[in-house]
Amino acid sequence: MGSPPVKGFGQGDPALAAWAEAVYAPEDEVLREIRERSEAAGLPPVQVGRFDGLHLEVLARAAGARRAVEIGTLGGYSGVCLLRGMGPEGILHTFEFDPRHAEVARESFARAGVAGRAVIHVGRALERLRDVEAGGPFDLVFVDADKGGYPAYLAWAEVHLRVGGLLLADNTFGFGHVHDPSGAGEDAPAMAPLRAFSERLARSGRFRATILPTAEGLSVGVKIG
Ligand code: SAH
Ligand code: DHB
Ligand code: MG
Repeated sequence: MGSPPVKGFGQGDPALAAWAEAVYAPEDEVLREIRERSEAAGLPPVQVGRFDGLHLEVLARAAGARRAVEIGTLGGYSGVCLLRGMGPEGILHTFEFDPRHAEVARESFARAGVAGRAVIHVGRALERLRDVEAGGPFDLVFVDADKGGYPAYLAWAEVHLRVGGLLLADNTFGFGHVHDPSGAGEDAPAMAPLRAFSERLARSGRFRATILPTAEGLSVGVKIG
């Protein structure tokens, strides 16, 4: 048997997924508590998947990130993952529009023991991002807020990431519809911006980028110029 001559894009076998969960244990007690408390507080259950959280931690660690920006905090699940990857020197500036979400995240950062390294900025990200620009350039930017805003967040990252810095973005498969020009499906108005985001990330020459075929699509770009 062996591998097929042309390898596919992802891996959808549930038995392999169960095996990977058991061996790599992507979600510990702290993250499980954050997910459950966020849901109990009425937040939408849209934090990154367990494996995406682990990807974020490992990618932040591989990048040696010390100064990072997250756009879209929710209850702090992905922020805790990033901060774990950044180690004791790492600082995360995370941006959240909804003050109720920010309150849940504040508690999450405290429980995870990272409150001293997490700065939550409440307000529309595009308005608040300028508050941290003087503290840049940044080592890592993770984009996970309103999907229509992705092109503008990428434009910000092009300026405020250092060369060699990492751009990460969740949901770049557009809930399965990013490639569908008919404009049908979930969050339809966001599909054109999500397409524009990937086209610019992949083709602008400012990044060398790929898209990891996670359930949601996780774009990863290294700034090269
Ligand atoms: N990264 C989080 C999930 C983020 S969900 C995690 O994986 O744990 C998206 C979040 O972005 C929501 O909390 C939403 O309130 C916030 N958001 C939406 N539009 C925003 C904007 N313009 N500025 C800042 N935050 C925004
Ligand atoms: C939604 C947002 C996300 O960031 C996500 O990962 C899943 C869903 C949403 O707004 O529906
Ligand atoms: Mg997301």
